[in-house]
Formats: sequence, C-alpha cells, structure tokens
Amino acid sequence: MTRQIEPHPGIMDIRPYKGGASYVDGVTEVVKLSSNENPFGPGDKAREAFAKSGGRLHRYPSTDHKALRLAIAEVHDLDADRIICGAGSDEIISFLCQAYAGPGDEVIHTEHGFSMYRISTLAAGATPVEVPERERVVDVDAILKACNSQTKLVFIANPANPTGTMVGGNELARLADGLPEQAILVLDGAYAEYVEGFDGGAALINMRDNVVMTRTLSKLYGLGGLRIGWGYGPASIVDVLNRVRGPFNLSDTQLQTAEAAIRDREYADKCRAENGRLRVWLSEALAKIGVPSDVSCANFILARFADREEAEACDDFLQSKGLLVRRVAGYKLPNCLRITVGDEASCRRVVHAVSEFKGRG
Ligand SMILES: Cc1ncc(COP(=O)(O)O)c(C=O)c1O
Repeated sequence: MTRQIEPHPGIMDIRPYKGGASYVDGVTEVVKLSSNENPFGPGDKAREAFAKSGGRLHRYPSTDHKALRLAIAEVHDLDADRIICGAGSDEIISFLCQAYAGPGDEVIHTEHGFSMYRISTLAAGATPVEVPERERVVDVDAILKACNSQTKLVFIANPANPTGTMVGGNELARLADGLPEQAILVLDGAYAEYVEGFDGGAALINMRDNVVMTRTLSKLYGLGGLRIGWGYGPASIVDVLNRVRGPFNLSDTQLQTAEAAIRDREYADKCRAENGRLRVWLSEALAKIGVPSDVSCANFILARFADREEAEACDDFLQSKGLLVRRVAGYKLPNCLRITVGDEASCRRVVHAVSEFKGRG
C-alpha cells in the first residue's frame, strides 16, 4: 500500500495554473495569441546580450543583481536599493505571500484577478478572499469593505489581466490610505509599460510605507521565456523579501539580457506604439462585427460574446484556423475570449476569422 503523505493545508485547494495554448492537434501553423506575449520578441540589443552571456557557466551569478537594479533605477527614475529582482514577477508575488501571509491570514484579490494571487496565497497557507468587481473594473469600495484585522495583502493588477481595465491614481491612493494598518497594497504592473507615461504606482510607493509594485520583462520587453521580473517598495519591505529570495535566483544570462532590454528604450517605445495602434484597430474592427470589448490599456483585448456557448464556439472556430486565443471562464468571464494584440497580419487574421464565424465574412 502507498502511504498518502499530506501536504500543508491549502495546497490541495490549488488549481494548477493553466498557461495559454501553444498548439492545436492537426494544425501545423498556429498564431499564439493566448499568453499576452510581444509578437516581435525581444529587441536586437537584448538578443545580442543573450547570445554573449554564456561565457561564465561555471561561475555562480551575482546575488545582489546590482547592475540590473541600477539599470532599472536609471530608466524608471527609482531608488536602486529598493528594487528586488525575481524569476518573473510571479516570483515576487510568491515572495510577498511567503513573507507576509500564513495560516489565519487573508489575502484579497478581485473577482477577475490574475490567478497567481490565489495560488501563491494558498501555497503560503493563507486564505484567499475574492472581492467583486464592477463591470470588469476593480472596485475600491468593495475591497475596503472586505478588509479586516486578518488582511495582509491586497493584489491589484493595473492594467488588469484579463480585463485590460485600469483604476485611476486617486482611487489607488484612497485604497492605500484606507487599508488596515497591517496590510500591504500590491500593484501588479505586468502591463504598466503599455500605458504611455504611467509610472506603475512608483509615486504612490514613494509617498507611503504600505505599497509595493511588481513589474515584468515578459510582456513589452518580449522576454517571457527567460523569466525576469522585479519589485519596488519601501526599504523595509524589500529587505524582508530579500530574506526569502534564493541567493542565485537569476542566472547571468537572465541578468545581462534583462539589463540590455531595459536600457533599450527605443525598442520599448516602438513596441508600445505598435501595440497601441493595433489594439485600437482590432477592438474597433471586432466591435463593427458585433464583438465589443472594454477599452484596454494592455496588450490584449477582452472580446465579449452573447454567452458562453458563442464564446466557446468562436474559440473552436479560431482554433480550426490556427488562431490560439484564451478562454477566460476560469476568471469568471465565460462569455469572453482574451485576444493578445499580435502583429498586423495576426490581427487581420483574427478579424477575418471572427467575421467568418459571425456569418458575415
Ligand atoms: C497580471 C499579471 N501579473 C503577473 C504576470 C506574471 O508574469 P511573469 O511571471 O512572466 O513576470 C502575468 C503574466 O501573464 C500577468 O498577467
């Protein structure tokens, strides 16, 4: 007989994360629009740094990530001493839960919030608390109402995934100011770079001691495959997070490629502009054929259908054409499909296929 050795309470409540589909059986050429990746990949400078980075494989990498932190600080006008780097922003989310939430503690996420908040909360033995949104927008009053003396962390992505919507600066300040004393507001800025001139919450962080932001190189910088993210917050919180961080959590390849990508502002600007142009085109073209979406501030749109049946039928049809988008029923949006803004040819293919599906092609 095999023994059943029990994990910590909470672990078996985790529904493992499901990544975006990357293949369809029987279809040889697919366009992946299911994981909000940059369709152009990383820029030339990042690619060159990656290619050059393999010369010291026998040496351990830097433990303090100083060169990358200085580059991030310079480009984003931040204090390098209050930056922490991780294997994707997922790792920073996990550090926050590990360090600040445990059995008996509550962690708030919103109705359509990114699934890693719940997963990392349960992994830490804490209790996830889901708060409703208002028409697919984070509702600050609902969050404040859900707070109590057990609340340790509040996670909000701004812009949010999978809705693409944002909460304004004044609302975020009101939220930070209204949280109970022992709670930290985490602003997940995975898509912040797509918003021209947006600091991701840095100014708010600089004026308060209970706000942290997480950022990533997986989206605008086109480096999802390499796993690099970072966080920024008050010195005391960053000090805590560094205590749970593994000393060699990023390789030389990750560090050097990330530094080159961050410093290549021209490429980042180009990708942001192209995403903005195609996002407007895609959402307007779909709206014209009866598939509306909220105004998105990120690199995807959340296309709304009449009901779950129509959304799933459209997804099946798109798959048969090799177009992979994301079902979001798991995010309580069963009548929607999240479509990453690809390059121009992919956007045109999506519109063509959806219009064919709608019987108007
Ligand atoms: C809102 C949000 N936060 C965090 C992440 C994690 O990104 P990464 O771990 O690649 O930095 C994602 C990825 O899809 C996301 O959508």
